[in-house]
Amino acid sequence: MIEFNWKNCSAAIIGNEHGLEVEEEFENYKNQISQIVTQLNQSRNLPGRWLKWMNLGNNANDLWLINEYADEVKGKFDNVLVLGIGGSALGGIAVTEALLKPFWNILTPEQRNNLPRLFFLDNIDPDQINGLLNSIDLKKTLVNVITKSGSTAETMSVFMILKKRLQEELGEEYRNNVVATTDKEIGILRQLSTQEGYKTFVVPDDVGGRFSVFSAVGLLPFALVGIDIAEILRGVRDMDVELQNTNIFENTAAQNALIHYLMDTQKSKNLSVMMPYSSRLRYVSDWFVQLWAESLGKEKDLNGNIVNTGPTPIKALGATDQHSQIQLYNEGPNDKIINFIRVGNFDTELKIPETFEYTGIGYLCNKTVNDLINAEADSTRVALVDYKRPNVTFTISEITPYNVGQLLFLFEVQTAIAGALYNINTFNQPGVEQAKNYTYALMGRVGYEESARVLKEKMGAK
Ligand code: PA5
Repeated sequence: MIEFNWKNCSAAIIGNEHGLEVEEEFENYKNQISQIVTQLNQSRNLPGRWLKWMNLGNNANDLWLINEYADEVKGKFDNVLVLGIGGSALGGIAVTEALLKPFWNILTPEQRNNLPRLFFLDNIDPDQINGLLNSIDLKKTLVNVITKSGSTAETMSVFMILKKRLQEELGEEYRNNVVATTDKEIGILRQLSTQEGYKTFVVPDDVGGRFSVFSAVGLLPFALVGIDIAEILRGVRDMDVELQNTNIFENTAAQNALIHYLMDTQKSKNLSVMMPYSSRLRYVSDWFVQLWAESLGKEKDLNGNIVNTGPTPIKALGATDQHSQIQLYNEGPNDKIINFIRVGNFDTELKIPETFEYTGIGYLCNKTVNDLINAEADSTRVALVDYKRPNVTFTISEITPYNVGQLLFLFEVQTAIAGALYNINTFNQPGVEQAKNYTYALMGRVGYEESARVLKEKMGAK
């Protein structure tokens, strides 16, 4: 269902300076890759290794519970509002944008099969929050608050606002409009859920936010708007079987991880661009950016050496960004590797009518927009080759729950393998803690008084 083409990274195509002897490198690294893949799979059930996301394709229990709840609330709400940030939101946004009918929220209820509209608030912009809350009927809104830690300031501050407003409108019944997704035992949201009696779902142990899209974090919102989550998980399971193959010649995730690693470390291509040629897949790039950045951007390697490593991910959208970024990619510094995602068959075939045929745009008559977007994808990668710029292409046959499950799981495994090649801890994020602590200090959280004093001094000094 997903084809992978790395030819435009090979020295034979883009020359020795920028290209790799790809097959030779697969041969050189085949033992190391085999060890990495074996180790990942042997450790996937071990506590504390943060690899339990690898098992989420087999998440039959959650699948059943989530579908049961989605059935129970079906028809009761006009809107689902998801509150979360980072890994608690990006997967949800990426998958729903890919799989719901385009412009879902402005379709009529009949066009939506009477399923609710879907909103994500994944930021703390007061104007945006206020704008949304003033635009939807809160009485008819189901709020899914998602936070693994249960205390993330951005998510919980918006939830506090929502709770108050819901309570004002609905009284104590408000709790029927809340469903929380959080850790099974710890954290403030878990405590509050027990106290207030919210319906809850669990973010499983040893699954980090950016790897949680196939847990209840993603599956619950998907099911609430009618997406076939069983099909998503079937795609994940099948891809999982494929990627357990320890032979790099038959493992796409290992191939792209190695290509990116070598491009960065040997050819100075430390920027990775994700560029789907499909608006429905545009937020897959946002999700990928977090996955790649937070997983691979690390100060220290596993031996404690300072390495300050990590390729920088960039999001782009074809064909739109041909008119924005491609000039730089073709002629600017040759420091990038570009990942194209190409869609074989779109749901719609859209013909360009025979009109203005007597003008310079007459060549478009009777062609399809489908042909045009894929011609643009193909010509862009060929032009990049002319400029000796490395690029790889994933082709997905069509945008279905099964294929989207496959694609995202593939990128997750690719990231885990890349992390092992860089010899870093893929699953932590110590670099985001410092700013979080500073925020707590600035906002007056108990226990952060000394940090607040130091911080104010530093701010004054700057
Ligand atoms: O990938 C991660 O771990 C982060 O992006 C988290 O998902 C993000 O910080 C939100 O955390 P939480 O789910 O605890 O609110």
